[in-house]
Order: sequence, then C-alpha cells, then structure tokens
Amino acid sequence: MHTERTTSKSGVIERYREFLPVPESTPIVSLGEGSTPLVFCPQLSKRVGRAVFVKNEGVNPTASFKDRGMTVAVSKAMGRGAKGLICASTGNTSASAAAYAARAAISCVVILPAGKIATGKLVQAVAYGAKIVAIDGNFDDALRLVRELGDDSDFAIVNSINPDRIAGQKTAAFEIVDVLSDAPDFHLLPVGNAGNITAYWTGYREYHARRRAKNLPAMVGFQAAGAAPIFYNRVVEEPETVASAIRIGNPASWKQARAAITESHGVIDIVSDQEILVAQAWLARHEGIFVEPASAASIAGLFKCCDSKEAAYSFKKIPEESRIVCTVTGHGLKDPDVIIQQMKDLKSVPATVESVRRAIGL
Ligand code: F0G
Repeated sequence: MHTERTTSKSGVIERYREFLPVPESTPIVSLGEGSTPLVFCPQLSKRVGRAVFVKNEGVNPTASFKDRGMTVAVSKAMGRGAKGLICASTGNTSASAAAYAARAAISCVVILPAGKIATGKLVQAVAYGAKIVAIDGNFDDALRLVRELGDDSDFAIVNSINPDRIAGQKTAAFEIVDVLSDAPDFHLLPVGNAGNITAYWTGYREYHARRRAKNLPAMVGFQAAGAAPIFYNRVVEEPETVASAIRIGNPASWKQARAAITESHGVIDIVSDQEILVAQAWLARHEGIFVEPASAASIAGLFKCCDSKEAAYSFKKIPEESRIVCTVTGHGLKDPDVIIQQMKDLKSVPATVESVRRAIGL
C-alpha cells in the first residue's frame, strides 16, 4: 500500500499524527477526512445572545463525524493484518466502515437493527459493498452480537469500543481550538453510544495539557427523550426516537461520558423529538446548514438551555462573551424521510413565462 499523500486534503492522521497512536510504519487509509468548517452562525448567535459556532461534521467524506475515527481504526487494523472489519451501527458507523474498507480493499460486515436505518445510510453501505446483516433487535443487541463474535486478527471491530476510533474523533476538538485559539466555554453535542463526547473531552484535555488551550469547555450532551439512559441513569430496554442515529438504550461509553460531564462541570439533558425536528428545520432555514435529526439534538439543546425553565443548564446567566460550539454530526441528506413526508406534491406548470410567474405569485 502507498503511504504517500493520496488526496489533495490531508486527513486527520497526517494533520495530527503527534497526538495519535499511529506509528510511521502503519499504512494510512484515508479519504481526506476532518478539517471540517467551524461556522460562525449569526442568526443562532442573535437568538442566544452569545457567539455560537457550528462544527459541521456532515461534510466529511461519508457525511458524518465517524470518518475521523474510522481512518485511525482502519489504518491500525491494516497494520495488524486484518482481513475485514465488523461493526454494529445505527447507520453512520456502517457507512463509514464500508467506505474505509473499500478504500483498504478488505471486506466489511455491518450488523444493523432491521427497519431502523435511515435511507441514505443504508444506500451508502450498499454502494460501498458491505455485507449487511439486519437483525430483529435494536442497536444494543447488534453491539452485543459484535462483541460476542469477537475481535480477532481477521476481523477488526470498528465500533467506538475500539480505542482507535476515540483517538481519531478527538481531532475535532483540536480543530476547534486551532480555529478559536482556545477552547470554547461550552461544547454542545448529541449523545448516543457516548463515544463522541468521550473523544471531544479527551481532545480538549490533551490540548490543555500541552498548553495549546488555556480553557476547558463545559461538555453539555443531549439525548433524545425516548432514548436517554445516561440522563435517567438506567438502561432503556426499548429506546425510541425519530433521531434513529441515537436510538440507543445502553451506551458503550456510559462511564466515560459521565466522567466527561462531571470533570468538565457540564450536564446531560434531554430533548423531545418535536424539539429536534423544529431545530433541524430552523438550522436549515436560518443558517443554511442541513443536518440529520440526531445532529439537530445539539441545536435543540441550545434552544432549551436558552429558553426553557426545565433546562439542566441555563444559559441565561452565562457571561455575554461566552463562546458556544455545537457539533452537528451528520448530513441531512442521509435521513430525508421526515422531510419527504412533509413535502407537498410538486405539480408541474406549462413551460411559459406567464405560468411560471403565476406559480411564483408575481
Ligand atoms: N449523531 C449521529 C449522526 C450519529 O450517527 C451518532 C452515532 C451520534 C450522533 C452519537 O454519537 O454514539 O458517539 O454518542 N452513531 C452510531 C452509529 C451509534 O452506529 O452510527 P455517539
């Protein structure tokens, strides 16, 4: 395998190797992931009364944040001579694993909850040539099966229980500090299997320890109300939410997420499906950023922190100069079903200026 640069944009290993467990001898499997935009959002900032930035992870190669961890996990697996990858997924991990497996010319098996994967993500797994196994069960069952099938030298588990995934994902925190010249005061993000909140906190702490950041943010995580084991502090046997990516009742990184929240003086809170869909539409219409429902949990959470008396963390009294970053984790095109249902039938009009003027309402 060639290890020279294979894309015009360097991936996260090339950019942050000194912080990653990837020796020079490891063959790098990259699609040019990371270096995603940290977008200052004027309308959100106006609504909140503080500076709000959105870290748009939907513009990664497979349109979610998973690619950051996948490049590290797959590169390391190749270094160990793995013949294939295996993962459980609510959709995005499977899309990412399938793409990086294709890139590495190895096989990929994905175990998915039947009927609960957003259309675009399933399409991706098929397009990249993964072997797809749909189970009569939820994500937690799928992950249990992957653990039972086990990690061996032939098949590498690439769920976030693999520490290489977390190592890659922490680079998003580095990028934020590199742009803002310090950590933000608050970092908001959706929480499902809880790998990402663990990864961000690891990244912020590492940069702080190396004196690249003076500040450490409060980590504020949001679960969907119907799938909120960390918030309620108990396993949810039958998690349910429109945000299928975070439909998880027994997160693998539960303890690490708790530690991140406690150590950073943050909180975990819940948002309803209704709040999630309102936030998704709001972000698309007011900032031009179209994200999948799970990703909109961080924006719904931001609104809750500002508007609701029930918020676990109120932003009413935080200093005006506070900087807030919300991670949006996946692209809206992955999960178009809710919006398609809301679409009215498009009726065609005759191809004349007059009928087009009438259709516009001129
Ligand atoms: N947002 C999206 C779009 C996701 O796909 C996920 C997780 C999360 C948020 C939550 O991140 O699990 O690190 O807390 N998706 C996993 C998957 C479970 O299989 O694609 P987390």
